[in-house]
Amino acid sequence: METPFIFGKIATEKNFTDREAETANLVQNFTSLINTIIISPRRWGKSSLVNKAAKLAMEKDCNLRICHIDLFNVRNEEHFYSLLAQKVIAATSTKWEEAVENAKSFFSHLVPKITIGSDPTNEIAIDFDWDDVKRNPDEVLDLAEKIAKEKGLKIVVCVDEFQNIAEFADPDYFQKKLRSHWQQHQHVAYCLYGSKRHMMLEVFTHSSKPFYKFGTLMFLDKIDTPYLVEFFHSRFKDTGKSINDDAAHLIAELVDNHPYYAQQLAQQSWLRTNDACTTDIVRDAHSALVEQLSLLFVTITETLTTQQLNYLKALIAGEKAISSIDVMHRYQISSTTAITRSKTALIKNDILDNKAGEVSFQDPIYAYWLKNEFFGK
Ligand SMILES: Nc1ncnc2c1ncn2[C@@H]1O[C@H](COP(=O)(O)OP(=O)(O)O)[C@@H](O)[C@H]1O
Ligand SMILES: [Mg+2]
Repeated sequence: METPFIFGKIATEKNFTDREAETANLVQNFTSLINTIIISPRRWGKSSLVNKAAKLAMEKDCNLRICHIDLFNVRNEEHFYSLLAQKVIAATSTKWEEAVENAKSFFSHLVPKITIGSDPTNEIAIDFDWDDVKRNPDEVLDLAEKIAKEKGLKIVVCVDEFQNIAEFADPDYFQKKLRSHWQQHQHVAYCLYGSKRHMMLEVFTHSSKPFYKFGTLMFLDKIDTPYLVEFFHSRFKDTGKSINDDAAHLIAELVDNHPYYAQQLAQQSWLRTNDACTTDIVRDAHSALVEQLSLLFVTITETLTTQQLNYLKALIAGEKAISSIDVMHRYQISSTTAITRSKTALIKNDILDNKAGEVSFQDPIYAYWLKNEFFGK
């Protein structure tokens, strides 16, 4: 039998819960062509939310086309341009013959090199001569607007892991170029989202940066307990099993409402359940999950400095005034500068999340492991 929980893939249909207001807002932004920026740590549900809203928006408006670009593995401008052209063309063509035709007809200076994938999706890939693109980036940057105008369409271009463009060569210049084109588009909107809060905030909220005030900012939260509890109940029920209320609450609590881990722990609990899931089963599943991840956690911990670990220890113990002399002494933290430095580094490498000055662990299982296994022993 198929298991009722999924993690690491886009959550759709019955696997998707909560996010009612966010979905409605996003559908509204898509259909009205309002630029949107979505920020949350990884695995909190950005891709799933964008995917859901995109489907709904296209059902609502038959002239709307939405394409998705993932910059996860994109390290330079060249790659970005070819992906942009490819995805925009694919989203606005119904057949690959049309796509090839479009790829040729919408460029005047650039000569696209087109290859058609041999896999069943027959996805087309588009490449350019890099020197040509450097001379005429406008053709690629304005492609969506041009196609939308000509075909009477509205287009939303979604760009995942957008903060990666900050790692391109000369990022400010590149961002200036993007923004100066994109802000003129009348028939195209952009939905830019990413997982590195500090980098996304820098790109979109610093007044000196080109993307300052480019669109509406949306901060995605974790999933509230009542939604998770209801979700666990219904997914267990769908598969002929049940989970009691305490056990459902315990899952939410042990993963600190983290969407990905909520599904993963629910899955582990479901697998251990014959008929009715109890708190004992959940605790068992949780221990197994911690155990399964411990090797990874050891590796992460090995990269941390002693000062960073001391700071984490104080944080985990729930110390509120870490910079007080007493606390610094107890946890062998050398100075307030060391605190600032540790905090910045831990946020930068995604161990901690800084939400409006409130620091928390990104990975609830790692926090648990540190507290109970690493520091606990
Ligand atoms: N709305 C949701 N309802 C239930 N589970 C979700 C939801 N959004 C995300 N998840 C869980 O989190 C995982 C990661 O979601 P994803 O959309 O890929 O996050 P992100 O794009 O922020 O990294 C999914 O595979 C799923 O297990
Ligand atoms: Mg994602």
